[in-house]
Amino acid sequence: MHDFLYRDGELWCEGVPLKKIAQEVGTPTYVYSHHTLLRHFQVFDGSFRDVPHLTCFAVKANSNLAILNLFARAGGGVDIVSGGELFRALKAGIEPEKIVYSGVGKTDAEIEYALEVGILMFNIESTQELNRINDIAGRLKKKARIAFRVNPDVDPETHPYISTGLKENKFGVEVEQSLNLYRQARDLANIEIKGISCHIGSQVTKLSPFVDALERLKLLEKRLRAEGICVNYLDLGGGLGIQYRDETPPHPNEYAQALIDAVREMEVTLIFEPGRVIVGNAGILLTRVLYTKEGPIKNFIIVDAGMNDLMRPTLYKSYHEILPVMREVRSEKTVDVVGPICESGDFLAKDRSLSVFFPGELMAVMSAGAYGFSMSSNYNSRPRAAEVLVSGDKYYIIRKRETYEDLIRGEIIPPCEKLKEVT
Ligand code: LLP
Repeated sequence: MHDFLYRDGELWCEGVPLKKIAQEVGTPTYVYSHHTLLRHFQVFDGSFRDVPHLTCFAVKANSNLAILNLFARAGGGVDIVSGGELFRALKAGIEPEKIVYSGVGKTDAEIEYALEVGILMFNIESTQELNRINDIAGRLKKKARIAFRVNPDVDPETHPYISTGLKENKFGVEVEQSLNLYRQARDLANIEIKGISCHIGSQVTKLSPFVDALERLKLLEKRLRAEGICVNYLDLGGGLGIQYRDETPPHPNEYAQALIDAVREMEVTLIFEPGRVIVGNAGILLTRVLYTKEGPIKNFIIVDAGMNDLMRPTLYKSYHEILPVMREVRSEKTVDVVGPICESGDFLAKDRSLSVFFPGELMAVMSAGAYGFSMSSNYNSRPRAAEVLVSGDKYYIIRKRETYEDLIRGEIIPPCEKLKEVT
């Protein structure tokens, strides 16, 4: 459920008509519902209320400060994968001791930054990374709290680009290999072993891959305990899917129940890194029709949002429902909804049966709150979209639309006399 609903044939977000936002802020604009965001966070987090746990929102899904701040105030932590995400999280008021740091390629500077601020733990993905973190922690006279991200080799049955827990993926270390890593880590002076982590993939719509992964983590925990290595945290990553079209993902309560049952006898704190399930259906991309065009075999609706604004359709062939902001009874047409970018891959929907649209009309690209703005770019020198947060009958611009000046910020033309002449 979300808070984008029709009232008298017009689409609103909570108590604000989307038309008003388009008129006042322009398009394309990402619009998020504060109520949906908070409710999704609370439902997810609340599902685990009976066990010690920490919900660490995956910043990559939506990294706007206002949204991170909302989760901070709701008691949440975050999962980060870069120094930039750490910077954002701290600016948004996330407590360092609620931050977990994932990712296969942490740089020295990023590791230093995370150690200086005192994050909860690093999810380490290789021997070299372990040694690097130990060295840097030694230099800074700190102890690094760590987990190893193991690759449980379960098939999340999702799109191959977003499946991460298989043997062939670059992520994590094999369970067997991880045993050696834990033994190594135990002997390192500047490392404190805190947990075991995994993340199997994204947009997972079944429970069994999560339960299988947890079973493998439990076995590992038992083997580690037998060797005197005890962990306080089991980090199960993110990945719970949402409904874009006709998927039937488990409700967070069902997800929680399945996992809680499996860990009841253990003395660990569970960590989750949900992204999509919290923000995906809490945001839309509001765009305006520029032109319609009939080709010899296809009809096109050309809108002012492109693949630079929402990359998911072209990258993953993903489906986003498209709704007219003003709903009228009209005939339907099969169309491609495309953007202004000079690439054939620039589409938001393909071969979609939609009610007829005319130039100037508004459409809402639904379920765009996760991996929408955060994956957007300036390709074709397009200023990135504005972001708006609606709360009740008020809305707030939480990111201004970029300007042309923003586009060239940091660019420098070297003095031409310094450049070598072409002979
Ligand atoms: N934790 C880790 C270590 C991750 O790599 C991810 C996502 C998450 C948590 C959050 O997963 P979620 O709960 O959102 O499924 N751009 C793709 C999704 C890539 C996901 C990458 N990792 C998309 O638009 O579908």
